[in-house]
Amino acid sequence: MASYDRIPNNVDLSGDKKLVRALEQWLPDYLDWWHGMGPAGFQAHDVYLRTAVSVDPGGWAVYDYVKMPRYRWGIFLVPPEKDRTVGFGDHLGHPAWQEVPGEYRNMLRRVIVTQADTEPASVEQQRSLGHSGPSLYDVRNLFQVNVEEGRHLWAMVYLLHSFFGRDGRDEAEELLARHSGSEDKPRLLNVFNEPVDDWLSFFMYTTFTDRDGKYQLIALGESGFDPLSRTCRFMLTEEAHHMFVGETGVGRVIERACQILSETKCDDVRAHGAIDLETVQRYINMWYSLSLDLFGSEISTNAANYFAAGLKGRDHEASYGDHVALARDYPVWQKPDGEWLLSPVPIRNAMNEVLRDDYIKDCARVLARWNRTIERYGIPYRLRLPDKRFHRSIGLYARHCFDTEGRELTQEEWERRTSEFLPCEKDRAYVKNLMVPVHNLGKIANWIARPVKGINGKPFEFEYVRKEE
Ligand SMILES: [Fe+2]
Ligand SMILES: [Fe+2]
Repeated sequence: MASYDRIPNNVDLSGDKKLVRALEQWLPDYLDWWHGMGPAGFQAHDVYLRTAVSVDPGGWAVYDYVKMPRYRWGIFLVPPEKDRTVGFGDHLGHPAWQEVPGEYRNMLRRVIVTQADTEPASVEQQRSLGHSGPSLYDVRNLFQVNVEEGRHLWAMVYLLHSFFGRDGRDEAEELLARHSGSEDKPRLLNVFNEPVDDWLSFFMYTTFTDRDGKYQLIALGESGFDPLSRTCRFMLTEEAHHMFVGETGVGRVIERACQILSETKCDDVRAHGAIDLETVQRYINMWYSLSLDLFGSEISTNAANYFAAGLKGRDHEASYGDHVALARDYPVWQKPDGEWLLSPVPIRNAMNEVLRDDYIKDCARVLARWNRTIERYGIPYRLRLPDKRFHRSIGLYARHCFDTEGRELTQEEWERRTSEFLPCEKDRAYVKNLMVPVHNLGKIANWIARPVKGINGKPFEFEYVRKEE
């Protein structure tokens, strides 16, 4: 029991010998993975981090200097809801499952493993960024995101170990064996194999890719398998910070471009060492479209099965009138006779699209806030989300080419115009060139504006990351 004092938890770890044994075996492998694949070059630094210590809404986090490998990777579930029932699908109204329902064991394991795989993947993708942080504040935020993704892996591994026996333990090992971008054992989903090696990409990733995570967690938070639901609902409280890092990060890049545009009255933002809004737009186009793919195919039997089984619901399922969802259709862009039309699909089969559309609305709100910044500076430029069919690799639009307005292009037109839509080599090289570390106290790189405030009431000038004494 004593050995588990260092893992904060509200799952009565010390009372579950079998689980403790399983986690004890997994822990050294996890730490090896963290040392080898986690943030490079900063493992011995003191980082001002928040740690989850309970699930009380007001007091779940403490802030202090921690060396990342010693972060208190905890296991937290939101408290159980009394008499909770399955909220949708074929088992609507039945008591929520506290154990894995036998008939859905494989399906459920797949859902959990798919989610789990993304958590360590993102840490791997971002591992070199610490070396080029624009300020100590930003480096600290990166590491906060990284340790929380590590904790999310713990959360998922807890479910695998507790409820899936031997297979669960094997899956937990595999989660450490696959690596982002690896030739022979890549991560399961495409975007998690893309390197995230500049900070503009990192901020785009935390805006758009972590937001996919948010929507997946919302859908799993509705799950009739109660431990999964409770785990995901607590993860969402952490995810909010990742979204904050992304949105304010991109927002500050935009703000800096606007400052230069209005101070210098010159439209060559790059000449002043910052990132122009057109480049920001191309990065949006890329990360947004890559993230849209994560929701899966527009028409999907898997999605229908997950919903029918009561394992994966919709965003705010309670707000829908009909939780069985057999009577309705959902509009999906299809090309039945040579023309793209919104055509009805039985809604259960369109559940991926339903969730994607909620995600799109959320992204549109972010874009509106970024545009308000540009507007405040009196600059006529506006950022936009590309059409959802643009640059897709999964689903109905994957074998077609579209421009950002959703007009279909020939392969040849697409190739000719790609650099209009997506970051080209020159853009990437330019952005990469700016990635010079600014780690002096209170200083910030020229290509990004200072944050409005620091973390946990501390000023921007606070030493958020410091070398071991
Ligand atoms: Fe996560
Ligand atoms: Fe996240």
